[in-house]
Amino acid sequence: MTARSTTVAIVGAGPAGLVLAHLLRRAGVDAAVHERLSRAELEGTARAGVLEHRVVEHLRGLGLADRLVAEGQRHGRCEISCLGERVTVDYGALSGGAQHWVYPQQLLVRDLVAAYEADGGTIAFSSPVAAVAPDGAGRPVLRTADGELRAAWAVGCEGAHGPVAAAFPDRAEGVARRYPYDWLTVLARIDRPVAAVRYAVHADGFAGMMPRTAEVGRFYLEVPAGERLEDWDAARIRGELGRRLDLAGTDPRPGELLETGVLRMRGRVARRMRHGRLLLAGDAAHTVTPSGAKGLNSAVADVVDLAGALLQDLDGDGDGSALDGYQQRRLAAAWRTQEFSDGLLDLLHLPAGLPPEQREFALRLRLERIHRIARPGPEATAFARAYAGAGELRAAEVWAPAQLTTVASGATPR
Ligand code: PHB
Repeated sequence: MTARSTTVAIVGAGPAGLVLAHLLRRAGVDAAVHERLSRAELEGTARAGVLEHRVVEHLRGLGLADRLVAEGQRHGRCEISCLGERVTVDYGALSGGAQHWVYPQQLLVRDLVAAYEADGGTIAFSSPVAAVAPDGAGRPVLRTADGELRAAWAVGCEGAHGPVAAAFPDRAEGVARRYPYDWLTVLARIDRPVAAVRYAVHADGFAGMMPRTAEVGRFYLEVPAGERLEDWDAARIRGELGRRLDLAGTDPRPGELLETGVLRMRGRVARRMRHGRLLLAGDAAHTVTPSGAKGLNSAVADVVDLAGALLQDLDGDGDGSALDGYQQRRLAAAWRTQEFSDGLLDLLHLPAGLPPEQREFALRLRLERIHRIARPGPEATAFARAYAGAGELRAAEVWAPAQLTTVASGATPR
């Protein structure tokens, strides 16, 4: 087996790894992408589906969103039900025009892979990286089934437990919180499209109904932490969704359940996104709960910044300081994202262990908060902008150091 070498080794071909690979390729930087899953597995795994305004604008600018824009759907409203009231939050209007795009992640991945290959790039599928370790000069050496891969930089875009994160001092575990509940996750056939994200704040627990495609919807049910999936058969899931979401005649109904799971709800932010010549992006650096749909979006925001920082380093004196800037900006952004997601979770769930006779009080407080984010005003504007991802993603190269303070204090999570 031959030892190969590249400038940037990218581990993981999810949206973060693929967008980074595109950006580097267009800048003429040599990169090698390794993905542990086969192409069919990667392109067939249903995950997120709600893309922020600024992420789509960025992909559009790169010419990577043709199909997304042609086939995806724009969503600018969500509904939050509580105590029999259904409140519409017109966040598209409240944010001054920023809306989400709904387009399943696996289709975005398929498009990004196709465009990368059409550009002459190659992705090593079914090619896990077993370990990453520095050579004598501190440069990463990746152990793959095809032999060693030597790189100037290795970027972990491989989710929370990948080999690049494993080479960080604390395995990039960082600072974490386990929430006192889990979410049952359901992908189900529906008889009509989900017109708007629906959140139900309910005495028996949160439920959510999210759009994916015309035939398939994503549903969530709050369950006690540690709940076993075996305790939830299809009839119980459908019954509970119908009750908590208060599904009426005109609402979509979950039919065949295509996939069910239990998501252990936790938030986590690594203490570092750079360790020597190792870098982390997306879930490898931070895990955010699905609340607010920020995971995929913040991963793409990470790599847009990272591509600029890598180019600065490769074009400049290569002292790595540009990558420290990446870490500083993106850790700050990761905490803003956690705060947003955690705030929404707090709105959507009742405090743990609240006795039944105290639940109405907690629900009434939540209904007040729901009205506040639905009614035009500073709080509604801030929520809407953060939720829809208003503004734009920026590469590190356009950020002068003086701008860092402004960025760090901005209200919108990236
Ligand atoms: C989702 O589409 O899975 C989704 C959307 C909005 C949320 C949470 C999840 O707040």
